[in-house]
Amino acid sequence: MAIQKGEVAILTLGDRTIELPIIVGTEGERAIDIARLRKETGLITLDPGFVNTGSCVSAITFVNGEQGILRYRGIPIEELVEKSSFVETAYLLINGRLPRQKELNRFRVLLNDSSLVHEDMHAFFQHFPRDSHPMGILSSMVTALRSFYPDLEGLSQSEEVNITLTRLLSKVRTMAAMSYKISRGHKIVYPREDLSYCANFLNMMFDSPVRPYHIDDDLVDALNAFWIIHADHEQNCSSAAVRLVGSGRVNLYAAISAGTAALWGPLHGGANQAVIEMLEDIQATGGDCEPFIKRAKDRNDPFRLMGFGHRVYKTYDPRAKIMKKIVDRVLPKVQSDPLLDVAMRLEEAATRDPYFLDHNLYPNIDFYAGIVLRAMGIPTNMFTVMFAIGRLPGWIAQWKEGAADPNWKLHRPRQIYVGRPLARYVPIEDRDEAYSAEACSYNAY
Ligand code: CMC
Repeated sequence: MAIQKGEVAILTLGDRTIELPIIVGTEGERAIDIARLRKETGLITLDPGFVNTGSCVSAITFVNGEQGILRYRGIPIEELVEKSSFVETAYLLINGRLPRQKELNRFRVLLNDSSLVHEDMHAFFQHFPRDSHPMGILSSMVTALRSFYPDLEGLSQSEEVNITLTRLLSKVRTMAAMSYKISRGHKIVYPREDLSYCANFLNMMFDSPVRPYHIDDDLVDALNAFWIIHADHEQNCSSAAVRLVGSGRVNLYAAISAGTAALWGPLHGGANQAVIEMLEDIQATGGDCEPFIKRAKDRNDPFRLMGFGHRVYKTYDPRAKIMKKIVDRVLPKVQSDPLLDVAMRLEEAATRDPYFLDHNLYPNIDFYAGIVLRAMGIPTNMFTVMFAIGRLPGWIAQWKEGAADPNWKLHRPRQIYVGRPLARYVPIEDRDEAYSAEACSYNAY
C-alpha cells in the first residue's frame, strides 16, 4: 500500500510537545495519525459526524469533493459508465482490478447460478404487511439469508467469502424484484439464464403472464449506468456502517444488512424517494419553487431541498452530471414526465440563489435519480432499494478490505461525558419536581 510517511505534526500541550506522524495518500491527501494520542496525552479528539475524521486507509475509491472527481480503483466513473458494465465494475471494486475475459465469464456464470432465492424464503415475503417499506423488508431478508445459507463446510475463508458475495450480489437483486411482485399480489418471475444482470432485473420486475415484458436495450444501458454510478462512494454513512458492524466480526450478511438499514434514511439513500415526494408537493401546490427555496433557507425550518448538498462535494456532484445524461436517454422512451419540468426549474432557481452558492449546495446524485427510475417504471417506494442494489459491490469491497487488514480494529469511538457527576439512587417516594429538574439539567440536548 502506498502510504508516504516522514513528515510529522507537532502538538504543543502546555510545556510538552508531541510528534504525530503525517500520512499521505497516493493523491496527496494528508492526515495526522492520532492513534497514539490518548496513550501519550490522555486526550481524545472530538469530531461529531466524523466531518474531519478518517476512519481507515482505503485503496478502493477516490473522491475529490472540491474538483468533483470520483474514481473506482483509479478509473474515473465517466469512463466506466461509457465502457464498462455494472457486473464488470462490481468485479473491479471487489477484486481491485478489471477482470480478464475468462474471469468475467466465470463471474457472470456464478452470478447466474446464485440467482435463485430459497423457496422457503418466499413465505417470509408473503407475510410482511402489504404496506411495509421495501427497505425494511430488504434489510431483514438480507440477514435472513444467513440462516438459509449457513457456513460452507470444507472451504477456505477466501472461497467462502467469494461464494457469499456472489450470492449477495445475485440474490439481493432477485429479492428486490420478488418483493415488488409480492407487494402487488402478482406471480413471481424467476431469473433467466439468457439475460444479463440488468436485463434480468427489469424482466423480473415487469414481465407478466398477460403482458410479456419487452426488454429495451436503452433502458438496460441506463440501468447499467445508474448502478455503476451508485457502486461505491468511499466512507459514506452506509459503507461506514458496514465497516463498523463488520469490525465486530459479524458475518457478511449481517454487515450488509446494517448498510441497507443505514442507506434507508432520507439524508442518505432515502433522498431519491424524498426528492420525488418534494417535486410532487411543488407541483401539487401550483408548481412555484420559490416558497420551497425560501423554506430551505429558513434556519428555523427543518425543511431542506432534497437532492441538494453533499458532505464531500462542494461543487456539482459528478454523478449528478451523468444522471442528467441518463435522463436524456430514458425520457424519450416514455411519456414526458411533468416532474422533470419542476426539477429543472428548481435546479435553475436554486443554483443561482446566493444562499445555495454560498453554502456550496449543488444537485447531488439523488436529484435526478427519481426521474430516471420513474421512466423505467420503478415505483417510488422502491427507489432506495435500487440504490442499495447499486451500492452492494461497494459495501462488499469495503468489508473485504477491512477483513483483509491484519490489524482490523473493533470500531469503537470514544466520547466526552457531559452528564451528571456521581449521584445517589433516589427512592421513588422522594422523586419530586426538584429532583427531576436537577437530574435533567445535565442532559446534553
Ligand atoms: N437545503 C438547504 N440547506 C442545506 C441543505 C439543503 N439540502 N444541505 C445543507 N444545507 C445547509 C445547512 O442548513 C447548513 O447551513 P448553515 O451552515 O447556514 O447552518 C449548511 O448547509 C451545512 O449543512 P450540514 O448539514 O452541516 O452539511 P452536511 O455536510 O452535514 O450535509 C447532507 C450533507 C447531504 C446531509 C445535506 O446537504 C442534506 O441534508 N441534503 C439533503 C438530503 C440529500 O439530498 N441527501 C443525499 C446526499 S447524496 C447521496 C448520498 O451519498 O447519500
